Amino acid sequence: MKRIAFFCLGLILAMGPARADEGMWLPSLISQRIGDMQAKGFKLSAEDVYSVNQASLKDAVVLFGSGCTGELVSDEGLLLTNHHCGYSYIQRHSSVEHDYLKDGFWAMNRQQELPNNGLTVSFLERMEDVTDRVLRGFDVSMTEAQRDSVVRANSKLIIEENADSDKGITADVEALFYGNQYFLFVFKVFRDVRLVGAPPSSIGKFGGDTDNWMWPRHTGDFSMFRVYADKDNNPADYSPDNVPYRPKRFFKISRAGVQEGDFTFVYGCPGSTQEYVMSEQVKYVAEVSDPQKIALRTQRLDIQKKYMSMDQAVRIQYSSKNASVSNAWKKWQGEEKGIKKNHTVAVKQAYEARFKEWAKGTEYEGLIERLGDIYARRNPTYLAYEYYVETARTIEIVQFASGIYSRLKAGTDTKDLIDSFFKDYYQPIDEECFVAMMTSFDKNVPDDFKPAFFKEMLAEYGSVDACKDLVFNGTIFTDRSKVEALTPEDVDTVAQDPAVKMYGAFYDWYSNDLAPVIRATNEELRVANRDYMRAQMAFEKDRDFYPDANLTLRVAYGQVAGYEPYDAAYYYPVSTLKGIIEKDNPDIFDYNIPQVLRDIYAEGGHENQPVCFLATNHTTGGNSGSPVINAEGNLIGINFDRVWEGTMSDIVYDPEICRNISLDIRYLLFVVDQIGHASYLFDEMVFVD
Ligand code: ARG
Ligand code: GLU
Repeated sequence: MKRIAFFCLGLILAMGPARADEGMWLPSLISQRIGDMQAKGFKLSAEDVYSVNQASLKDAVVLFGSGCTGELVSDEGLLLTNHHCGYSYIQRHSSVEHDYLKDGFWAMNRQQELPNNGLTVSFLERMEDVTDRVLRGFDVSMTEAQRDSVVRANSKLIIEENADSDKGITADVEALFYGNQYFLFVFKVFRDVRLVGAPPSSIGKFGGDTDNWMWPRHTGDFSMFRVYADKDNNPADYSPDNVPYRPKRFFKISRAGVQEGDFTFVYGCPGSTQEYVMSEQVKYVAEVSDPQKIALRTQRLDIQKKYMSMDQAVRIQYSSKNASVSNAWKKWQGEEKGIKKNHTVAVKQAYEARFKEWAKGTEYEGLIERLGDIYARRNPTYLAYEYYVETARTIEIVQFASGIYSRLKAGTDTKDLIDSFFKDYYQPIDEECFVAMMTSFDKNVPDDFKPAFFKEMLAEYGSVDACKDLVFNGTIFTDRSKVEALTPEDVDTVAQDPAVKMYGAFYDWYSNDLAPVIRATNEELRVANRDYMRAQMAFEKDRDFYPDANLTLRVAYGQVAGYEPYDAAYYYPVSTLKGIIEKDNPDIFDYNIPQVLRDIYAEGGHENQPVCFLATNHTTGGNSGSPVINAEGNLIGINFDRVWEGTMSDIVYDPEICRNISLDIRYLLFVVDQIGHASYLFDEMVFVD
């Protein structure tokens, strides 16, 4: 008997643990997961992951800017993140003469590192559950508005107590589980962050939007920065006297490589998920919102591409804009498909039916109906709002005009806005997008939702095309010298400019007709979802719940794994340089690699150079640039994407198909050395093998 039991145990261990790798866990509560992590191969302790008493891995992870993650890899402030996270900074330093996007950039010494005005990196000092304090003074007889003011007043006090702007310390109180729990996050924010290196886009963005969100992937998606501090190692504004920051902890690098089944762990700042919403919302996303937004962006992308392919200057101007339009566009396509393939709406409906049975006679009876009713009242208006954001709000000249107008009104300087706008503006694209977007707006937004201004303008001028002429021929904002000559005295004249008027009319419509409905229903949803979250936790007592992502620091763990994208196909989890050469094609922009890479490959011996790998870590937007760590806590990669078929993991995680995509750290080392000739940077890194 015993021998059989022993044998079975051995078999289970050999098969490996169950692949239920869903979850984005709070680092300060990681002791609740550490047993599972260790069972799956992790060798470190909870204190190694997160500690306030000693340096831990969290001290080597930062929020990079306001939507990416980065990690420290030396005791001299050297930081790694993605190429696409550094992209707008690299672009800002680029011109046709110094095209760092195209050619790459490598500082060969500290003096050559480039400052980036406005870029910050935030280190988490500590986080703690402050639910009791936030709700102090609240009792159940209070109205929602009263509860709200209690929460706000208490949060304000907690923030004041913990923030210290002179020292660069900021504090936030964040609601988790829809406000069933509140956490305090205290950060140290550094604001002198310099560009150290970036590969040419033909490596850092290899595959471009063709391969974006896809496997097999071969993108060298990294860039390197350095965090600077004052002489006391504290945050400071940019100054040539600043010195490299000495972090409490940095990642050591493992060059041992990855194998299918290896434990991996991603430490970073996932932005936003909605794992616990009811079927009605999932239906809206997959059947209404995603398809409509995809159709609008397809048109904009086609227009941008047409002009970009005709002119290198336009290509540079619109590269960053184009990438950001295309990114969500493609993600939504995967999400829509994934939700449909998983029958998530039906699965959620079945869950809700069981829930309703359970809720009978409890305070949660009728909750599903209540939620359904709120969504039904909210979503038509919300769709009009999404249409507004994707159409009228994307007309560049209109946005620019309104930006200048506000500054003139406020009496603030306009020069930087004028510079950055004209550096990257190409009017034919904007005009064509105006016609395409406003035509779709006219066609697809129901008449009773349309702003009166737009209906009148169309009636008066007869066509969207004529409205476009009215705006573009009438505005002064396409003429740089005229914009430069404006002073605050001109405010009243500027208010009559057709571009400013269009912005104002649409904005008024949004504020008067849409925003009140959205605000009121959001408010109802906030309360109902708070109840629903708490109810689900009571309904499924044995389930481990993790809070939806909200850009706070999280841990996701899993293993290196391939997947079956469709019937009869298996995707292996590791890609190599051989695959880059297979894709290489000088005639296709996205696949045209630098000649030097061809030459290196031709020398031989690099076929098996690893490039990217797949794993089951549950990640989302914001996890870009996150360190990917092995069982020993050493850096093996940088997270930069997910597979397209698995992007519904923001709503429903399918362990069979949801995979994150990481750059293999060995490819970074290869590129820095062979392409950048900047291997001097290795001197400050620590390699464990
Ligand atoms: N899909 C990745 C993310 O969501 C990479 C985006 C940048 N790359 C691109 N080709 N647009 O951020
Ligand atoms: N590229 C994404 C980012 O910017 C990560 C991909 C994802 O959504 O998982 O954070």
